[in-house]
Amino acid sequence: MADLAGRVALILGGSRGIGRGIALGLARRGADCVVTYRADERAGRAAVAEVQALGRRGLALPLDLREPEQVGVVVERVAKEFSRLDVLVASAAATAFRPMLEQKPHNVTKTLAISVQSFVAAVQAAVPLMASGGRIIVISGIDSHQAMTGHGMLGAAKAAMESLVRVLALELGERGITVNGVNPGFIETDSSRLYLQQGLGLDYDAAVERLRRHTPVRRVGRVEDVVPLVEYLASDAASFLTGQTIVIDGGLTIVSPLTRLED
Ligand SMILES: NC(=O)c1ccc[n+]([C@@H]2O[C@H](COP(=O)([O-])OP(=O)(O)OC[C@H]3O[C@@H](n4cnc5c(N)ncnc54)[C@H](OP(=O)(O)O)[C@@H]3O)[C@@H](O)[C@H]2O)c1
Repeated sequence: MADLAGRVALILGGSRGIGRGIALGLARRGADCVVTYRADERAGRAAVAEVQALGRRGLALPLDLREPEQVGVVVERVAKEFSRLDVLVASAAATAFRPMLEQKPHNVTKTLAISVQSFVAAVQAAVPLMASGGRIIVISGIDSHQAMTGHGMLGAAKAAMESLVRVLALELGERGITVNGVNPGFIETDSSRLYLQQGLGLDYDAAVERLRRHTPVRRVGRVEDVVPLVEYLASDAASFLTGQTIVIDGGLTIVSPLTRLED
């Protein structure tokens, strides 16, 4: 299906993990894709090579979201190269996995800069380029609505983004632009591996096995589980869906801890 043919997507944090999968999914549906990376240029180039192998135009641009004002420079480059922007995906995130009492002021500032401030800057730069049918999609996380060890600041940032999803949907609806969030559960990526191993000090395989048992569909998530939902949200078929953050987690977060007491 090439229903996104001729559209241009900008995926912040599109070089790896979920963002990379989204770029490839949107490219498969016909979109040209610009992906940003912070430091891993090779990953950015590799993602673009895959986009191009699908017959689409692709571009990888460096962007350190600890400096949110740099987003405007990237959006200007998209305007220069592609003359339009149809889909904005905010997937980048980073934080220091520490208890709140140990968060230094710069940890707080950076986490919010990478997620919240950069998202606001991206929306402000991107919307003037978007025609009716524009799509803004935020990748949120479990920490937005459940307390998670070490995730205090990232959870606060994700909750703020889910709130912004609603208010932006209200403000941009009359332009024909929809704004939605996707809230994945546990998805196997470099970052989730790092969190289990270094953030929680767990054996990765044993932790994933426990998660699998606690998930109603009896498996943990893969990037490919999230991508089709983002493709749908980016499509014309989703024009009546806005202001929502959709949880896609195999049921992981609907289960009461009371059902796990015998574990
Ligand atoms: N994996 C999960 O289980 C899970 C669950 C729920 C939500 N999420 C959310 O999904 C999103 C993607 O997660 P992921 O697991 O796919 O992560 P990932 O594999 O670590 O990818 C993170 C991406 O963000 C970029 N990035 C990191 N710090 C940045 C900065 N300071 N400035 C600009 N870009 C930066 C990375 O670029 P470089 O490689 O160049 O650093 C990379 O492209 C995140 O928002 C995360 O919170 C993930």
